[in-house]
Amino acid sequence: MSVPPPPEPITGARLLFSLDPAVSHLNHGSFGAVPIVAQRAQQRLRDEMEADPLRFFTQGLADRIAHTRRHLAGFLGADPEHTALTTNATTGAAVVFQSLGLRSGDEVLTTDHGYGAVDYSIRRECRRTGATHRVLPVPLTATQEQVVQIVRDGLRPGRTRLLVVDQVTSATARLFPVAAIVGVAREHGVPVLVDAAHAPGMLPASVRSIGADFWVGNLHKWGYAPRGTAVLVVAPPWRDRIEPLVVSWEQDSGFPARLEWQGTSDYTAWLSAPAGLYTLRSLGVDRVRAHNAGLAAYGQRVVGDALGVPPAELPDPGGPTVAMRLIPLPAGLATTLDGARALQTRVAERLATQVAIMAWGGRGWLRLCGQVYNTPEEYQRLAVGLPGLLAQR
Ligand SMILES: Cc1ncc(COP(=O)(O)O)c(C=O)c1O
Repeated sequence: MSVPPPPEPITGARLLFSLDPAVSHLNHGSFGAVPIVAQRAQQRLRDEMEADPLRFFTQGLADRIAHTRRHLAGFLGADPEHTALTTNATTGAAVVFQSLGLRSGDEVLTTDHGYGAVDYSIRRECRRTGATHRVLPVPLTATQEQVVQIVRDGLRPGRTRLLVVDQVTSATARLFPVAAIVGVAREHGVPVLVDAAHAPGMLPASVRSIGADFWVGNLHKWGYAPRGTAVLVVAPPWRDRIEPLVVSWEQDSGFPARLEWQGTSDYTAWLSAPAGLYTLRSLGVDRVRAHNAGLAAYGQRVVGDALGVPPAELPDPGGPTVAMRLIPLPAGLATTLDGARALQTRVAERLATQVAIMAWGGRGWLRLCGQVYNTPEEYQRLAVGLPGLLAQR
């Protein structure tokens, strides 16, 4: 079957970033890439901070943070009153876990598509409190309706103190129907944390319409913000119960200052996040979304063909704007975390191509992303080089 054409390129977009032109960067999802405009905005703020640190920290910083919070909440369709800035999804999730007041007999429920660091965080909190972590297996091929049904059947009301579900999964590049899942959990009185690390900028996110108790999203992936920019949205009943990981002078100031202020730290990433969104908006948010998802789908087909994977066996991400796609690797390759990391490094070194290699469900997967700075030729070059590299075990 012939590969459908790639999307129209967003001409000149690569020049907006400072990425090494000798490398194909096909893994935007892991650590993002910051447009030069946002890098410059952050540098200007750092210059201002270094010129007079006392003035920077004590005159107007709180207002600037509040302004940024309102800006980012507006972009995400979140209520600014329910929103706190935080450094990343890992931190936001940990804040939630340690605020729950878990006890022996309680459980935290996740799916087997969850993010490894978040799972570690849950397990640490469970060890500390005597609660348990239960993992629901969800087949990669489950339809959205089946996913909702699996979660519904997996809830243990009265015992499940939190359900954690990813909006776009990391290892499996799947969109989960989080609004429907939140609805089902609510019927059973189970609070939900939506881990939306990849959603801001990638999905037409409307946090309000999802209605989760907690929602955490990174701006530093698909929202082009400097690294260290994320938001945690907390439903009103929880706002006074949510505790920061690190106690600061703002402890008695309530939500969100208590969470946001972390002592002497570099807050310039947050303040320059609107410059990242400015780049996204200038290119056209919908245009970027359609381009990135289309290019990832193209890359999946080109590389899948090269590895002899029939189109029907290429996982569908479950939504039109998911800009990450999986390709199964030959059996026996990268089946463990260490094996996946080693192969990822080999691909980077030998093919000058950054990809994500994932071990999930007993097999290895290649995850490709699409971004405005990518071209169809980059996926084509990977398709030429990868089969030979995989053959040299
Ligand atoms: C689903 C998910 N959750 C959490 C994270 C962690 O994000 P961060 O490293 O910014 O905390 C990621 C990162 O890729 C992710 O994909």
